[in-house]
Amino acid sequence: MPLVTPFPIRTYGASGRGFMGTLEHPLDLPFPVCRAYYIYGVEDDQSRGNHAHREANQLVVALAGSLEMVFDNGFEKQTVSLDAPDKGYLLTGGLWREMKNFAPGTVMLILTDQPFNEEDLIRDRDEFLSFARARTGIDKTPTQMQD
Ligand code: TYD
Repeated sequence: MPLVTPFPIRTYGASGRGFMGTLEHPLDLPFPVCRAYYIYGVEDDQSRGNHAHREANQLVVALAGSLEMVFDNGFEKQTVSLDAPDKGYLLTGGLWREMKNFAPGTVMLILTDQPFNEEDLIRDRDEFLSFARARTGIDKTPTQMQD
């Protein structure tokens, strides 16, 4: 089962003149944007993220460059590439994520429906696994997750 939803971004334009991508609620986005932030200057040996949000929904897209995002819900794992400015993904709460393999010059945009709140973040892997088990009601210890 896919953990994240591909989100093609509505664009206007043409080769040469250039393009515009638009993200409007509720026309495009299923949530009103409360906060936007962006990540840049990440070297290719760096791993970022390595946390989960309890509730926040997010839209992620690489406005320039590319990176990989690895998600898991404590039981299943999914890897996606953010590699085009019109190719986003929608993320719901309850997903552990890692961002890695940033190409030089990558700029990653994140839109979210919640203010920054450390209480919404789970940064400890064991705490996340307990949260994931309680959330799904499945009481098993994750062993080997499948890609
Ligand atoms: P952090 O979530 O730790 O990023 P990463 O796990 O990728 O290193 O965020 C880095 C710092 O930025 C942290 O001190 C919290 C702060 N921050 C905000 O103040 N507002 C925000 O919207 C975000 C995302 C982070």
